[in-house]
Amino acid sequence: MPDKAGFPHYMLKEIVEQPKALADTISPRVSLGTGEVRLADEVRIGAEELRALRRINIVASGTSRHAGMTGQYMFQELVHLPVEVDYASEFEYRNPMIGRGEITIVITQSGETADTTAAQREAKKKGSRTIAVSNVQNSTIAREADGVLYTHAGPEISIASTKAFTAQMAVLFLFAAYLSQVREELSKDDLGRWIAELLALPEKAETVLRSSSLSACQQLADEFHKFEDFLFLGRAIHYPIAMDGALKLKEVSYIHAEGYPTGETKHGPNALIDEHLPVVIIATCDRNDPGSVLRYEKTIANIRGFRQQSARVIAIATEGDIEIERLANRTIFIPEAPELLSPILEIIPLQLFAYYVAVRKGLDVDRPKNLVKSVTLE
Ligand code: BG6
Repeated sequence: MPDKAGFPHYMLKEIVEQPKALADTISPRVSLGTGEVRLADEVRIGAEELRALRRINIVASGTSRHAGMTGQYMFQELVHLPVEVDYASEFEYRNPMIGRGEITIVITQSGETADTTAAQREAKKKGSRTIAVSNVQNSTIAREADGVLYTHAGPEISIASTKAFTAQMAVLFLFAAYLSQVREELSKDDLGRWIAELLALPEKAETVLRSSSLSACQQLADEFHKFEDFLFLGRAIHYPIAMDGALKLKEVSYIHAEGYPTGETKHGPNALIDEHLPVVIIATCDRNDPGSVLRYEKTIANIRGFRQQSARVIAIATEGDIEIERLANRTIFIPEAPELLSPILEIIPLQLFAYYVAVRKGLDVDRPKNLVKSVTLE
């Protein structure tokens, strides 16, 4: 077991290790010079079969499933194939209509989660090819898969998954870019631009981890650790980040928190939103993406509505966004990034917030009660 390297908890150490985990996961697999993504030896499925692909299925548990939900947007946007995301624990019971001509991606930090192992076996039984995304070399799920894409995040000890999550999202984006390359869905220039954006992520993550953000998240935890319920909100690819922000808070601080699509609040949860229920909302914007701008404008309107209901709003916003800073009670800024990659940065302040709330409450951050790092029994 690696030591804590001077950190008070493995969770904080692993949050701070994310820039390196991203660099180790991304850099060896891309070439800016040739504008190529190199995954053939790891995917181990030939180009002809990849060109004939009809659909992608994603199956996982816990935080890994949230990574899969962001992957759905990446694959549909870059590869233009239908993608379905399932809870591993529900997969075999819904008798999934899958088969030949499909890939099932099973995502797992540990590589030993029983539900995900069973789901991979079910997918193979139905004729689907499988790709495992795992953080542990030679794990059961990796050994049984047709192809394996390892996240190079290093050992993750803390039960709440942090660096493996951001590395999983980076690997899913790499795989989507690789499929679009093999299927000639993207021009060489576009692929080159995406590779440059991927290679810029570690430094942007470093920016998010600068002391200013750490202390801002610590102050937020001091201010909000007594609340008993939280609502985390996000639209489109940001919704899984809201889900994981809520999960982190639940896992390590034992506070009830729910992740929800922002647009869905008016169909029910809005009844709960007032001064007693803090709202944590992903309000970033990629100004080069019209869809992102549209969602951002709707999010602005939502925040105005929540404030009129006296809710306290904590926003994750893009650097320099004074509009959000004026509207929300508290704002944490992250560097600008393309819509499909921004989630990898957005989750970091939410991980820090959950961590500092748990510390403020004097809890065992790395070993929360009733949880284990890998559930090996179904
Ligand atoms: C839980 C862990 O046991 O399993 C979570 O506490 C994790 O952090 C989930 O997300 C899924 O685990 P894995 O290893 O399959 O990604």
